[in-house]
Amino acid sequence: MDGLTLIASGAEADLYRGRFLGYDVVIKYRVPKGYRDPNFDRAVRMERTLTEAKTMLIAMECGVPVPTILYVDVENALIVMEYVDGALLRDVIPSVDGSLRRRYLELLGGYVGKLHVSNVAHGDLTTSNVMVTSEGMMYLIDFGLSRVSYDVEDKAVDIHLLIRSFESTHYNLTKELVRYFLRGYTSAVGVEGVNIVVDKVREIRLRGRYVEERRVRGGGEGPIRSYV
Ligand SMILES: Nc1ncnc2c1ncn2[C@@H]1O[C@H](COP(=O)(O)OP(=O)(O)O)[C@@H](O)[C@H]1O
Ligand SMILES: [Mg+2]
Repeated sequence: MDGLTLIASGAEADLYRGRFLGYDVVIKYRVPKGYRDPNFDRAVRMERTLTEAKTMLIAMECGVPVPTILYVDVENALIVMEYVDGALLRDVIPSVDGSLRRRYLELLGGYVGKLHVSNVAHGDLTTSNVMVTSEGMMYLIDFGLSRVSYDVEDKAVDIHLLIRSFESTHYNLTKELVRYFLRGYTSAVGVEGVNIVVDKVREIRLRGRYVEERRVRGGGEGPIRSYV
């Protein structure tokens, strides 16, 4: 492994760019957290690393593009994966025209739908965990909090988090983004499937609004509107 450059340092992991076996790679290393009990900390880092690698393989199997995994070291909480030469969907959304936005959101909806059909919930689905290349390829990343789940709630939470990420970074586009996303999602899960999940998303959003209104007292219209 040579010439490592730090490219991102998140709450959980440091990501380095480098070369490995002749490939351009990213090394995702989950950093020890001093504030956690050392044994617990090690267990958490190992568990998330294993979860992330396993789910990336499931995603590949069900036709959802993720960076190819080249090496996993669970003991040391690191994953070596293909470097994706692209940008975050979060940054791409405001800079492309409407038709490309539509294409990306439908594509994303289809991929998330495929994951859900395989009973995988991403766990941290936001526009910061989706990458797009200049050729228009899309990759899902950051599967450390994913889970195999038969519970509609986990799938609805994915969509809820995604909508929240639209609202926080692309507020005025939220409506169209949700519409395109759900169109792609429906193509993967079917009309009956989408209705079940969307009902649950509504329920989650209402719960959130209830909490929010109590917090603000009086609330009024509140920040949550019906996109779904
Ligand atoms: N395979 C990859 N290729 C290129 N950049 C990546 C890759 N994986 C992650 N990144 C970059 O690193 C950032 C953090 O990675 P991520 O897996 O989302 O970890 P975190 O848990 O810190 O959010 C991403 O937002 C992206 O910019
Ligand atoms: Mg991330």
